[in-house]
Amino acid sequence: MAAVETGSTDQWTRSEAEQIELTDATTAPVISDNPNSISDQYWIWDTWPLRTRDGSIVKIDGWQIVFSLTAPNDLVPGARHNAATIRYFYSRNGKNWKEGGEVFDAPLGHHQWAGSAMYDQTEEQIYHFYTAVSPEPEFRQRPAVGIGASIETGPKGVELTGDQEHAIMGTPDGEMYQTLEQSREQGIVYAFRDPWYFKHPETGEDLVVFEANTPTGSKDPSDPKSFNGNIGVMRATNDELTEWELLPPVMEAIGTNQQLERPHFVFNEGKWYLFTISHKFTFAPGLSGPDALYGFVGDSLYGDYEPLNDSGLVIANPEEAPFQAYSWLAMPQGDNILVESFENFRGLDDTSRGSISLDEVGYLPPEEQKELFGGTLAPSLKVQLNGTETKIVAELNDGHFLPSVGQSG
Ligand code: FRU
Repeated sequence: MAAVETGSTDQWTRSEAEQIELTDATTAPVISDNPNSISDQYWIWDTWPLRTRDGSIVKIDGWQIVFSLTAPNDLVPGARHNAATIRYFYSRNGKNWKEGGEVFDAPLGHHQWAGSAMYDQTEEQIYHFYTAVSPEPEFRQRPAVGIGASIETGPKGVELTGDQEHAIMGTPDGEMYQTLEQSREQGIVYAFRDPWYFKHPETGEDLVVFEANTPTGSKDPSDPKSFNGNIGVMRATNDELTEWELLPPVMEAIGTNQQLERPHFVFNEGKWYLFTISHKFTFAPGLSGPDALYGFVGDSLYGDYEPLNDSGLVIANPEEAPFQAYSWLAMPQGDNILVESFENFRGLDDTSRGSISLDEVGYLPPEEQKELFGGTLAPSLKVQLNGTETKIVAELNDGHFLPSVGQSG
């Protein structure tokens, strides 16, 4: 089959982002209950399901498996990033999760960030895509792959076994993708992370999308051009998926937003829905948008993407609880998507303290920070896709991950 043709990089423009508006269709309900944590010992945040090569959520001998970034819950929430370890959880019904354990014996990096996981059913092995990160304060990020785990199931649970080989997938080239050194001149947060695997639905190629930044030459953190988030692409150049080449980004938000985190695709009726998460504090000067799931739709990988709902906004935290959830991940569910996320901070707008924002939480007393942090799966949301428009239609009780429709159990 013909290889993918690279094309021009689309922009999420300032004028599109200026149209961001919280509506009934795009505002999540306030999380009312305190969901039970899926772990007694660990904070849980970014989470992703085990999927097959074609992207379906796997159910193996009746079990589903998800992977989460985790860290001991005696740490203050902000310290978790420097201690992140990927653990797995398994479930029969996709909502009550039991803790498995760590997924790696000897991963790359001081700690590991997000993340996707693909199970090849013929080879009966897992390909774990993750970010190998150096210690704080550097946080140098290198997308990596860990290959070789197999899955053992029994009536009581699931075990991941077997030796794994790890390889770095790529490093920034300084032209399409900003290096850590280039970003230091700008002084804003930096990304080269979050590899999300997918098989190209037409060419069958093995690809990942990831979060990065475009070098713009700007050296002034107050210049909108310093806000340079992009969504990058890599293509595997061998069948073992240990070697990868950088392709141009599919999307940039130059002058619009600094971080397009955890990018991922959902394919629906021949359309490419590209989703990403972003924070209020990473919008460029002069723009404002909530902590939210944003999305775009196009006809091909390097297509002309249209922002969903005109602005890109798909799921915003409500104004009453602007940081209640984060790290939304959309999964295909028939003509809808099912979107999972984690419980982030609640009560930051408590007036007795004065309202504070996400980047100020670290100044609160440690016990208060832990009290306000959810650190577990948030209720999943069902969202209808209708061409370039979307609508939140239901909130499920727990952190649901449903097997893909049409997938046998
Ligand atoms: C999103 C995120 C990811 C990163 C991880 C680090 O919540 O920033 O982009 O992999 O968290 O903890």
